[in-house]
Formats: sequence, C-alpha cells, structure tokens
Amino acid sequence: MKNTPLFIANWKMHKTSKEALSYIDQVLSLSKNHLQHVYLAPSFTLLPFCKKKLSDFGISLGAQNVSGVLEGAFTGEVSAPQLQDVGIDFCLVGHSERRSIYHESNAEIRAKISCLFQYKIMPIFCIGETKQQRDQGKVKESLAKQIIEGLEGFEEKQLSSIVIAYEPVWAIGTGEVATPNIANDTHQMIQEILIRKWGPSMRQVPIIYGGSVKPSNAKELLEQPLIHGVLVGGASLDAESFAKIISEGLSI
Ligand code: PGA
Repeated sequence: MKNTPLFIANWKMHKTSKEALSYIDQVLSLSKNHLQHVYLAPSFTLLPFCKKKLSDFGISLGAQNVSGVLEGAFTGEVSAPQLQDVGIDFCLVGHSERRSIYHESNAEIRAKISCLFQYKIMPIFCIGETKQQRDQGKVKESLAKQIIEGLEGFEEKQLSSIVIAYEPVWAIGTGEVATPNIANDTHQMIQEILIRKWGPSMRQVPIIYGGSVKPSNAKELLEQPLIHGVLVGGASLDAESFAKIISEGLSI
C-alpha cells in the first residue's frame, strides 16, 4: 500500500492576508483528515500571519524561495535563519520560474539547500525538463545535471530529509499535464539517478509531481506507484479546488 500523498499548494505571488484568511478557513472546513500531509507555500509577507492561523491544525507552512547566504548586504533577500525565526517547516528551491526568470543556477540552488539544511528547514527541490529537451530525448541528461549539480556534496543521510518535485517546464501553468505514465516513468528515472549516486536509501525520498494538476487529473496521477504527492500552482489558489485535489488523493 502507498503512503498518504503530500499535497502542496504553491500560491506564487497571489493573495493578501484577508484572502488568505478566508482560504484557510475554507480548506479547514472542507478537509478534516490527514492535514499533516497538506503543505502551504504563500508569499513571504503572509508567513507570520499563516503561521499563527495554522499552528493548531498540523498543516505545514513553507516559503517559495530563500537566499543562498545566511546574512549580509543582500537587499531584498530573505535568509534561512529568518525563515526559521518565523517557524516555517519547508521551502521550495529551484522552482522553474526561479530558474528561468531569475536565472538561478544549479550552484546557487545548491547553496540555498545548504542554508536550509543548516536551519533544519526541509527543502522541496524542484527539477524539470523543457519541451525542447523532451522532444530531443534529453530528459535524463537534463534531470541528472540538475540533480547532481544541485545536490553535489551532500551526504546520503542529509538527503533523506528532502522532497523532490518533478515539474516538467512545459506543464507548468500551461494546462498541459504529463500523462500519468510519463510522470511515473520520469519519477523512476529520478529515483534511479538518486540511488546510483547516493545509495539505496534514496528510495525513501518522496518524489512529487507538479504541472497543471487539477481536481480532474489528481487521482490518476496519484494512483501511480512512484508519484508520492502533488505540487499545485494555479488550482491551489481556489480553496474548493485544492480541497477537491486533497479528497481525490485520499480516496485512492
Ligand atoms: P501549475 O503550477 O499547477 O499552475 O501548473 C505548478 C507549480 O508551478 O508549482
């Protein structure tokens, strides 16, 4: 039997505290079970507010980004100790929007993960290939490069606490979801890369799927043996639709 999947809402740059409040109330009234498998990643400004609101319910709270250094003259950045200070549980790293719009390199992503490890914040490490890489048969090459360079130098034991989010760039915000078979096969490829480089315990690292997940496709994706959860952008903005994704995943 599969473990209960993870359901992660990535709000990106959406919502004010007033909107967040009614959203959280709605999700709490619609989803009563397995809230420890529900993760919320709002903007930095909403973190202290959401922390207060969520602390009694077991929903994990995370940031969408973190600085790759711990302190200093870096205007506009937010550090891992500052995130720890707010009491957050996890942080997205290497999201494709950060890679493509803000040109984050694998080395910078590695530095961010290192900062998160030092402050005991769980990294959710996002990787994915472009449409062109898939069309040219370069999926494995592209993912292996992101994994090896992004996680270079970390010990097998440290990596047992990360989550990998496979998000094909061509499926993010496009409505074009990977078929359950493509997603599952790619998760297997990712698992093999991890095991070959760091050892058999990497089989325990959850690999979740992201890219146009919605209530109508969540179940078929989560039924796949190697899809351990979903990272949801657009469809997580509406409380009812996110709650429906959770209930579809829990019905398996
Ligand atoms: P999407 O975004 O669900 O809107 O495709 C997923 C993500 O970017 O994490």
